Amino acid sequence: MKILVVGSGGREHALCWAIAASPLCDTLYCAPGNGGISREAVCVPIDPLDIDALVNFAKSTGIDFVVVGPEAPLAAGLVDRLEASGIAAFGPSAKAAQLEASKGFARDLCQRYGIPGPDYARFTEPAAALNYIRNRGAPIVVKADGLAAGKGVTVAASLAEAEAAVVALAEGQFGQAGSEIVIEELLRGEEASFFALVNGDTVLPLVGAQDHKAVGEGDIGPNTGGMGSYSPAPVLTEHLEQRIIEEIIVPVARAMVEEGHSYKGVLYAGVMIGDEGPKVLEFNVRFGDPECQVLLPRLMSDLLPALIATRDGELAHFDLRWLPSAALCVVMAAKGYPGDYEKGSEIKGLQKLDDMDDVIAFHAGTRLEEGKVITAGGRVLGVTALGGDVAEAQARAYQAIDMLDWPSGFCRRDIGWRAISSS
Ligand code: AMP
Ligand code: GLY
Repeated sequence: MKILVVGSGGREHALCWAIAASPLCDTLYCAPGNGGISREAVCVPIDPLDIDALVNFAKSTGIDFVVVGPEAPLAAGLVDRLEASGIAAFGPSAKAAQLEASKGFARDLCQRYGIPGPDYARFTEPAAALNYIRNRGAPIVVKADGLAAGKGVTVAASLAEAEAAVVALAEGQFGQAGSEIVIEELLRGEEASFFALVNGDTVLPLVGAQDHKAVGEGDIGPNTGGMGSYSPAPVLTEHLEQRIIEEIIVPVARAMVEEGHSYKGVLYAGVMIGDEGPKVLEFNVRFGDPECQVLLPRLMSDLLPALIATRDGELAHFDLRWLPSAALCVVMAAKGYPGDYEKGSEIKGLQKLDDMDDVIAFHAGTRLEEGKVITAGGRVLGVTALGGDVAEAQARAYQAIDMLDWPSGFCRRDIGWRAISSS
């Protein structure tokens, strides 16, 4: 089969790494890909949001199956357009992608179908949002309704902070994404992510993971796209996973069918585990990044047939096998990230990691130049290692990182601390 993966981050490198290993895959393309992906796939310089160009490329190249990595092309209708052109694609329709692309849509759906989440309210008028916040008091959570690359959420400790967040959204900080505002009760507990393949009301649970969003050690400082991740997540006991499947994943899949927006693809539930059990923080309509970089190395089964079965509606009798080992991914970023940072420095020593067992360096913001790996983004590498438990995987990931020579990069040295301190 000819397969096309859409995207250019570490998640897409992990997808390409897994798909390239499938006996079903004859030729793998990635649009636009990155320096690491070019080792697994033919990279084609097409922007993930250039839907016409992607559809034309898929048609003219005879692509059999497209796997869409990020949320923005899904929300823009890439899968709808590919399918309408007769090209099979993995991922939800634009309508179903509203689960991530409109936080208000997701909250309303959960409320209508009794799926546990925080109290919330939706506003198109900033003045009404400010009133609501003053009545409720702080702490309180202020969100842009639409896609804001994970940066549209303010967990406000004070009224002043919440008010400033509303004003910033009203002034267009996130453009159209903030033209509607969602205000939520602050949920307390420990966050975890759970993933499932879904087609209509058929659900195939995958596994859980946790990520570190903040840039600083101890999970402090500004939020980023993710500085590291690990799987399994010790907080997700078998009992809790079962509750997440029964109380969140299956009901939301059924609700989407009921509403006429049948869901197809991977569903990522971000949950807060508190005293009353799991509650929905958010849904994402794609694999997590950097969670994908720890999920796929644990998958013993072939990923590609599972993605095809999801698209074809044949998940019901599908089974996937997972390594019992833990996987941990440490993200390396350019110094300054998530603020200003420089591009164009060389990363040396990556070939040493090729010789290590059970260590994989997934690339994000990199490009190849005359055989050299050059940085081209903020988050640059995700170094994943497997181990008997999270502590062993962590030790091996840092051992690998210490072999790299990249003076203008940094990483957090405490990825997995919560899992390790709880064991
Ligand atoms: P979201 O993109 O909606 O998941 O929000 C990003 C992050 O903000 C989450 O991963 C949480 O850490 C935090 N967050 C979002 N909503 C809430 C909430 N209602 N209560 C507490 N924290 C939240
Ligand atoms: N790691 C968080 C996300 O992918 O949204």
